[in-house]
Amino acid sequence: MKIAMALLACSLTGWHGVTQANPDELAPGQALYESKCLKCHSVSTNEVGPRHQNVVGRRAGSVPDFVYSTALKQSKVVWTEEMLDRWLSNPEALIPGQEMDVRVRSAEERRLLIAYLKSQSTSTSPPSLTSKH
Ligand code: HEC
Repeated sequence: MKIAMALLACSLTGWHGVTQANPDELAPGQALYESKCLKCHSVSTNEVGPRHQNVVGRRAGSVPDFVYSTALKQSKVVWTEEMLDRWLSNPEALIPGQEMDVRVRSAEERRLLIAYLKSQSTSTSPPSLTSKH
């Protein structure tokens, strides 16, 4: 019953799939994502590139049904915000032999894109949940 109410509320208010975080921060990141990434990527499905859901905190090359380059698959990179920033500024410098030849030269655009990717990552649980013993 509760679920039905939630679904109803979503359909009434128009659900855009954006969770948590400040929407004012996410809107520009989403617009950048749509203009620069969507032609090869989607959040929920594999396209030319792997799906991006939960990418923040994920190991590079770890979407099971996507065929990665050997270079990306064998890298030991974990997609923290810092690694994503390095990847987007110059993928080939971070992982030589990778197959995504796209560079985002503006640091501000990278920051907005990463904030958006983070908002699509449900696996990043708040520190309070993981650091308590
Ligand atoms: C021209 C197509 C193309 C565009 C545009 C593109 N990508 Fe990619 N992306 C790829 C491919 C292909 C791979 C896999 C590379 C490999 O296997 O070496 C990839 C991999 C990635 C990965 C690693 C994911 C993982 O599972 O390890 C991230 C993160 C990523 N892309 C982010 C982005 C972002 C953010 C944008 C927009 C700024 C973007 N990409 C634009 C093709 C693209």
